[in-house]
Amino acid sequence: MPDAAGTTRRRRYLQAMQVDVWLSRERSPQAPAESAVAVPASSERHASSANTDTPTIVDPAGTIDVAEVAAMPLAELEATVAGCQRCPLHSGRTRTVFGTGAADARCMIIGEAPGAEEDLRGEPFVGRAGQLLNAMLRAIGFSREAVYIANILKCRPPRNRDPKPEEMVACSPYLRRQIALVKPRVILAVGRVAAQYLVGSTLAIGRMRGQSYFYENSDDGARIPVVATYHPAYLLRSPLEKRKSWEDLRRARQLLEANP
Ligand code: URA
Repeated sequence: MPDAAGTTRRRRYLQAMQVDVWLSRERSPQAPAESAVAVPASSERHASSANTDTPTIVDPAGTIDVAEVAAMPLAELEATVAGCQRCPLHSGRTRTVFGTGAADARCMIIGEAPGAEEDLRGEPFVGRAGQLLNAMLRAIGFSREAVYIANILKCRPPRNRDPKPEEMVACSPYLRRQIALVKPRVILAVGRVAAQYLVGSTLAIGRMRGQSYFYENSDDGARIPVVATYHPAYLLRSPLEKRKSWEDLRRARQLLEANP
């Protein structure tokens, strides 16, 4: 049972995530979250992920050499992405959305693809879902600037539909290189698409939560813990699930504390 300072801190975190904090006369306010958090990650999976796929689509404009991409520094990678024509999504984009944050961040947040606002501004998670993501990060003591945020796809799919497998394969050299350069200690995968992609799972996001996964890249031997959580856009529609996401974020923070 946490002390009074711990209780106050927890309440502040939950309020920062706009989670309603109910005070019961019989029970202390932290009890529900505390019991849920006590359930540990119960299984460990080792999955080769989409990050090791060889792109199967042809690069019609011959815009990139995948081996060159795998050796690029971040600034050159960003410039390469800005000119990418490896899949048809390039023709509908306003701007590519490369990624943002600290190049040496210990925590990397990975979503699926830019939405309308991101496409206009060229930055990931700047719409309503992004505001909530910022609040979630603050709730575990991170500023947006202290983490690195990226998506699987760097171009917006039409009408925000799910990314197609071939689009993810086409874009995979970029994210793979971003992860290799940033070398995060933990990856927070937000939403089903990102979580499944990073660890090669087909489970629903609700089943992936709380499990222990790793992102693996045989090229550089990376084996980075992945915490799967709900997408902030889903949390905007289902605010009662925010408390579960808060538990996931706490787990991410605990992994960082265990692996400084
Ligand atoms: N959803 C995502 O997955 N990524 C963004 O950048 C914005 C919304």
